[in-house]
Amino acid sequence: MTDRVLLDDWHPVAALRELAHGKIVAAKLLGADVVLWRDAAGALHAWEDRCPHRGTRLSIGRVDALGLTCAYHGWRFGADGRCAHVPSQPEQLPGESASAKRFHVQERYDLAWVCLGNASRSLLPFPEYEDPKLRRVVCGPYDVAASGPRIVENFLDMAHFGFVHAGILGDPAKAKVRDYRVDPWTDGAGGKGLLATGCFAWQPQTNSLAHGGSEVEYTYRVVRPLTAILTKVPEVQQGFHEAISLHVQPLEEEASRVWILMAMTNFEQDEATLRAFQDRIFLQDRPILEAQRPRRLPLDARAESPVRADRMSLAYRRYLRESGLRYGVTRS
Ligand code: FES
Ligand SMILES: [Fe+2]
Repeated sequence: MTDRVLLDDWHPVAALRELAHGKIVAAKLLGADVVLWRDAAGALHAWEDRCPHRGTRLSIGRVDALGLTCAYHGWRFGADGRCAHVPSQPEQLPGESASAKRFHVQERYDLAWVCLGNASRSLLPFPEYEDPKLRRVVCGPYDVAASGPRIVENFLDMAHFGFVHAGILGDPAKAKVRDYRVDPWTDGAGGKGLLATGCFAWQPQTNSLAHGGSEVEYTYRVVRPLTAILTKVPEVQQGFHEAISLHVQPLEEEASRVWILMAMTNFEQDEATLRAFQDRIFLQDRPILEAQRPRRLPLDARAESPVRADRMSLAYRRYLRESGLRYGVTRS
């Protein structure tokens, strides 16, 4: 794996609700096996999921006040990754090369984020999720046999609403997509992306609270190659506001795990109801995504057959091409 764009970026790998003190979670990212564990002091660690002694997964070991202990021969590793105890040879510790390989990790938006490479980029901004006036819900994760860029492109696509989400997010008789704008976007910290505005769709049930159809105005922003955020405002629900983000955790080039975060003004419904609505929508998208060929997103402007409603897809493909992304795409 040599794609610097993704190696040097942050990716979600677990929900923080799974990572209580003493917990170990195994995750996969860009083909690498990662173990996440929280030490007794509460700090979160992300290491290669491989014991330096004989290669056993550290994620089948255990955590105590002194560190992470491997299940095979009981070597114990401290929070700094150094081997601190070898039961078969307690009087002599192995050298630095027998340390666990550590990755960068941070906690934000109720998820654990890992960077496998050079962590010079900031984590993507999602101000709605940090707005104390909004309700927050973590949805997923959803495993999909598709590349990350195919999944993000689908999240940006309005022309499928009436077919894949008929009766909920669209109506096949009202499938015409009005013209909308796509402009460059920047986060002010060197992060580039795209902004689509003036996107309108007729939706029979735009969210889990809605009764009856409404014209809904969407705004989409692509903030990282594998993250997009939308906001949607229904004409009929005065004051209702929601932002939904989609983050791809690339497991392999053609296998992904998807996290969806919601920040909204819906305080009435319980979390199970809110998650169930999102599950229903995403599980309608999944078979479509898994049926697309090639599984990797073609970036050549002449590939596939775009129409005017696909302006956002075309802009997204151009943005990926300019970013230098190679993982999960075809370039010719
Ligand atoms: S393989 Fe981990 S202690 Fe031997
Ligand atoms: Fe969809």
